[in-house]
Amino acid sequence: MSNSYNHPGRGSSCCCNPLKCCCGCIFDCLCTCIYQIICTILVVLAIVAIVLFIFFRPTPVKFNVTDATLTQFDLATPNDNLHYNLAMNLSIRNPNKRLSIYYDNIEIRALYEGQRFASITLKPFHQRTKTTTNVDNIVLSGQNLVLLHNKGVSKYNQDRGSGVYHIDVDLYLRIRFKASLFKTSHFKPKIHCDLKVPLSVDGNRTSFSPTTCHLAWH
Ligand SMILES: *[C@@H]1O[C@H](CO)[C@@H](O)[C@H](O)[C@H]1NC(C)=O
Ligand SMILES: *[C@@H]1O[C@H](CO)[C@@H](O)[C@H](O)[C@H]1NC(C)=O
Repeated sequence: MSNSYNHPGRGSSCCCNPLKCCCGCIFDCLCTCIYQIICTILVVLAIVAIVLFIFFRPTPVKFNVTDATLTQFDLATPNDNLHYNLAMNLSIRNPNKRLSIYYDNIEIRALYEGQRFASITLKPFHQRTKTTTNVDNIVLSGQNLVLLHNKGVSKYNQDRGSGVYHIDVDLYLRIRFKASLFKTSHFKPKIHCDLKVPLSVDGNRTSFSPTTCHLAWH
């Protein structure tokens, strides 16, 4: 206690005060000074971030596969060729009051047992605040090589037996948010939809339960 009285101008008390700063502590002062500036900047940034967060209240966008029909899903065993015909209706809800969204790219990939068999890219669009966009009739059809290991083949036989196929649909997004005049840079989230699609037999439509998709952490 008394020590600090005896040496005024030493230690942290001399910081940022050039009159008090003696040669011995210039370096110390400089360090403390820079440290204080960095601390102040961090605190200000944190406050700005909190205020912006409270003001914009960013809420996750909701993706739902509202309907899906599967009219073909045949794996030809000798050549591992999958013939498929999958149609989907996708609903995208932007619940945000102050953020609109630019979907600059939406790539939809369909996978079976981890093997991608089809992909399609949607047209870019802008989604206003508090709106739902329905993208109807996304059709994935054709044939593709799908190499399933033993586990995959038994899974396929299981699905064929039950008539309900477990198909993964991943959405690779490239989006920007817009708030009044400001646009953010790009975000690239991946959305995962775990679908169980019944195969329609002879044109008879079977019911598909609407499925909520989730953000996937790559
Ligand atoms: C999607 O929605 C349309 C109506 O907009 C409907 O005709 C169709 O049956 C739905 N389902 C699929 C899988 O396309
Ligand atoms: C299709 O639906 C109709 C009426 O529900 C039924 O009579 C028919 O047997 C179904 N066909 C097949 C192949 O399941």
